[in-house]
Amino acid sequence: MSNEEIKSAVIASTGTAGIVQQSPKISAKDFCAYFGKFKALNNINIDVPEKKVVAIIGPSGCGKSTFLRSINRMHEVVGGTITGSLTLDGEEIMKSDAVMIRRKIGMVFQKPNPFPTMSIFNNVIAGYKLNGHHNKKNLAEIVEKSLRQAALWDEVKDKLNKSGADISGGQQQRLCIARTIAINPEVILMDEPASALDPISTAKIEELIFELKKDYTIVIVTHNTQQAARVSDSTAFFYMGELIEYSGTKKMFTSPEKKQTEDYITGRFG
Ligand SMILES: Nc1ncnc2c1ncn2[C@@H]1O[C@H](COP(=O)(O)OP(=O)(O)O)[C@@H](O)[C@H]1O
Ligand SMILES: [Mg+2]
Repeated sequence: MSNEEIKSAVIASTGTAGIVQQSPKISAKDFCAYFGKFKALNNINIDVPEKKVVAIIGPSGCGKSTFLRSINRMHEVVGGTITGSLTLDGEEIMKSDAVMIRRKIGMVFQKPNPFPTMSIFNNVIAGYKLNGHHNKKNLAEIVEKSLRQAALWDEVKDKLNKSGADISGGQQQRLCIARTIAINPEVILMDEPASALDPISTAKIEELIFELKKDYTIVIVTHNTQQAARVSDSTAFFYMGELIEYSGTKKMFTSPEKKQTEDYITGRFG
């Protein structure tokens, strides 16, 4: 083989950047989302790599939550429609079974929403049981494993029978993360998961995200640009339903390409 032949073989197998190209876990291509005639998202193109954290930032109303809800088929539940392509492991999400999609793609919301009438134990396994699993011995194991992974076990192990509402807001949010983990998802979507929490609880959630990406692909929406800079590998900046810029987080925060991105991350608007 000549040098040229070797070079082209390497490029063919690894992509021009010389980095092995992994197929994305989630991929949006010319993706649009509507509420009736209103177009909330216009031609979004994003690849989310497996076991990485992608942050979505942008001012209120720019479509961040709509994008998350589209990924786990919640957009249709609120009456929305879509065009273009949105895939999980290369399969069109809209053509897949919605129940299966929501099992593989868990979601954590802004306001911690444990079930207040249920114990901590039952909160953790609520979703898991909905999926038809009831083996008692198994349940205790899953509860412990999920709470450990959500960095909550040590704080609640002696009060598993207490109500899920009888713990602090930060603990409740980690309980919701444990509930999501218990279903054994592949992707975790988080919509401003720390914006209702105090700084210490926020720091705990951020540490936890760092741990979770060893096992899960994470897409986090945050209006806090500092948080995006701390927790994510890549950042997408949305503005008025458009994806303005998407790049590695370091690059985004040190040398953004678009003026709008720079204005937003330096706090000039939003
Ligand atoms: N259920 C809904 N019906 C109609 N319009 C909606 C609905 N939810 C959101 N929108 C609109 O879609 C746009 C994007 O909203 P959203 O995704 O919630 O933004 P963000 O999460 O970035 O604040 C906004 O203009 C909002 O008013
Ligand atoms: Mg939102």
